[in-house]
Amino acid sequence: MAQNPERLAVVTGGIGGLGTEICVHLARAGRRVVAADLDHSPERIAQFREDVSEFNGQIQFEALNVADFDDCAEFAARVHAHHGAVDILVNAAGITRDTTLRKMEAQHWNDVMRVNLDGVFNLSRQFVDGMCDRQFGRIVNISSVNGQTGQFGQTNYSAAKAGMHGFTMALAREVARKGVTVNSVSPGYCKTQMVMKIPEAIRNDIIAKIPVGRLGEPADIARVVNFLSADESGFITGANLPVNGGYFMD
Ligand code: CAA
Repeated sequence: MAQNPERLAVVTGGIGGLGTEICVHLARAGRRVVAADLDHSPERIAQFREDVSEFNGQIQFEALNVADFDDCAEFAARVHAHHGAVDILVNAAGITRDTTLRKMEAQHWNDVMRVNLDGVFNLSRQFVDGMCDRQFGRIVNISSVNGQTGQFGQTNYSAAKAGMHGFTMALAREVARKGVTVNSVSPGYCKTQMVMKIPEAIRNDIIAKIPVGRLGEPADIARVVNFLSADESGFITGANLPVNGGYFMD
């Protein structure tokens, strides 16, 4: 099959720790990329634009709140009008509200579910029809090793990330005959702000349990997302690819 590098990709959480690196890897592969993220911080957006300036407009920022279904619909229409049809969707938007269940408030639970799991439905729903009509699509959901193992203090996050695996496999079955693949990547602990927020002593204990002996680099994850979103990866669907330095072996 001839590779079409200019395919349009949307990356949610596009200006976040893993998201930026995913945008960069897709752009290096020749994709046009829309980095979709909250627009609450003009400084953060300006920094992102500077960080990707070498790509000369191949990576564009668009505002999006994945937790809001109507905002996702409006975003999809805007992307279609300004950039064209979306071939690749990377659902990378994610937040943590870590606390033990005994201290967890409904808001901690709801915030995480709305962004990390509802967000995947909200946006996939916008693009799947078009992908099926055009007989090509790649959806890559960024899950987590903690969706596979559970993590102390993360009943909300682990539930959302495990839910993402079920979503991935079910949707993969629904669209497999239409040239659309749906996979997840489960990163382990990587050098992102999210991981750097963990209290140092706890983080050091976690690092000591990673067989390769280090945190992952965002590039370790982005490389795998790029692989799964390639035209040639059409026989991989409903899979979950762990990228965790051996922290959890299934
Ligand atoms: N396993 C078993 N028991 C534990 C434990 C663990 N991992 N950690 C703490 N405990 C015990 C404590 O010793 C304490 O016991 P006592 O009540 O007998 O003293 C009890 O559980 C309560 O612990 P804390 O008082 O420490 O609870 P806390 O509310 O202060 O802290 C927490 C809870 C904020 C969740 C903290 O444990 C923490 O930050 N943990 C790390 C969570 C984590 O790994 N998050 C990942 C974020 S990055 C990410 O999610 C990206 C990705 O996908 C990989």
